[in-house]
Amino acid sequence: MTPKETELDWRLRVFDSLSYPSRILRPDGTIVAVNQRFIEQIDSTAEDIIGKRCSDVNRYYFPHQKFPCETAQSCPLRQAVRTKKGQSIVFHLDGDDSGERWEDRVFSPIVGDEGEVRYVIESIRDITQVKMLEKKYSGMQMLIDNVVQNSVSGIMAADRKGNIILMNAAAEQLFDYSAVEADKVNIEDFYPEGVARDIMRKLRDPSIGERGKLPITKVNIRTCHGEEIPVEMTAAIIYEDGKESATAAIFNDLREKLAVEKKLKEAQSQVMQTEKMASLGRLAAGVAHEINNPLTSILLYGNIMQEKLESTNPVKKNLDYILEDAERCRDIVKNLLAYSRQTSPKKDIFLLNALVNESLSLIRDQKLFMHIEVIKDLTSFPIYVEADRSQLCQVVINLIINAIDAMSGSGTLTLTTSGEPRSGIGYLEVSDTGCGIPEENLSKVFDPFFTTKAPGKGTGLGLSMSYGILEENRGKIYVKKTGPAGTTIAIKLPAMADSDGLLFDSIG
Ligand SMILES: Nc1ncnc2c1ncn2[C@@H]1O[C@H](COP(=O)(O)OP(=O)(O)O)[C@@H](O)[C@H]1O
Ligand SMILES: [Mg+2]
Repeated sequence: MTPKETELDWRLRVFDSLSYPSRILRPDGTIVAVNQRFIEQIDSTAEDIIGKRCSDVNRYYFPHQKFPCETAQSCPLRQAVRTKKGQSIVFHLDGDDSGERWEDRVFSPIVGDEGEVRYVIESIRDITQVKMLEKKYSGMQMLIDNVVQNSVSGIMAADRKGNIILMNAAAEQLFDYSAVEADKVNIEDFYPEGVARDIMRKLRDPSIGERGKLPITKVNIRTCHGEEIPVEMTAAIIYEDGKESATAAIFNDLREKLAVEKKLKEAQSQVMQTEKMASLGRLAAGVAHEINNPLTSILLYGNIMQEKLESTNPVKKNLDYILEDAERCRDIVKNLLAYSRQTSPKKDIFLLNALVNESLSLIRDQKLFMHIEVIKDLTSFPIYVEADRSQLCQVVINLIINAIDAMSGSGTLTLTTSGEPRSGIGYLEVSDTGCGIPEENLSKVFDPFFTTKAPGKGTGLGLSMSYGILEENRGKIYVKKTGPAGTTIAIKLPAMADSDGLLFDSIG
């Protein structure tokens, strides 16, 4: 063989042993050579293929497959001939029994001495595995994205500099940022001063849990508008090649949970308060009954004695004192009986506004009101209540006196009446601009004998008696509001729109 022939022989051998199925085509598509792998792949012989057009062979061996041979634009062979540049095209073979396959077919032009394309080598690489992996990975990526996006917990991640790199929909809602806005701020802006640093310190502290992991922690976060929200969070440092590359955190809003806890606590303390009032009531009733009988005798015989004594008798003065104190005791007993609901109310139907005017007129003249401005804010539509009028008058007078006491001589006293048409409830509120009730006394003010006033000034029976009266009249009394700016005590009674018992409902 001549050296030239030897070289050609080598080239053919190289072509034949290429591990990719390959064929050599003329610019018009005629197959001039195929390598061993190509023949193996289609299970044919070189003689069967050589001399045929590539498109015919394609069609014959892959009858269901569409090849882009039709137009000059889509045919990679013609493109390679025209541009004299290699072309690569990925075929998705829908497959028969062998399943889906992908091929990367590369068309490399062989240019002759005159610059014309003489042959094109087409080599076929099976990229099914790569494509399958790609598909699986992108499917997984989509799944992860979906899980993150649809999580009810807020999820956020930041790079080492604190730039936000991930924020799911729940986090957007919690922090009130859109992910785009969040892009422009630093992770530290999502927490009150110093909290982000503290979290990072804990994440890096080997004595707190696993390395780089923050166990469930309660903190406040800060929204876009500066509002602080209590959350429960966990966080983790993400490491890449052993180095910190990012941090990720999961947040759960605690507002609803805390509100429910608070309500539960309130309900529990209300139950305790009711139980306490009931047992105190039984005690008060017992004491009042025991004292009532001897007291009646003291007053009866004392009065008889007083009538019989000469006005000049020096004992008469002492007897006056005894009777005065005995009467005081009788008042206390009366109040105690009212508190323990041992009196029988005389029900009457009357206007709530009339109650305000009547109570005020009974005490209005007193010096008590000297520097007090009285405001009446009364409902313009009629609210009738059914209750023991004189008992309720006593309640309102007590509330007014308490209010005046709290203002130590000067301030504004406001009496308000209102109604809730739908539920048939009337309200009467006594507000002052006084000292307020300290938190620690709130659960005690309705207890009998609880007073903060000087001995001789307060008996501590006003509110407890009022409590009993309201209970007996199917109403309620409570501290509606209190603080350094003053106190509002409210009473609530079943009400109607007219004296015939028409409910509010009917007046709409
Ligand atoms: N309007 C009010 N402002 C501030 N404190 C009040 C008010 N009403 C009641 N209190 C507190 O509740 C306590 C109990 O009131 P009450 O039962 O009427 O007894 P008393 O008036 O004899 O002290 C008062 O001593 C006072 O500490
Ligand atoms: Mg009082």
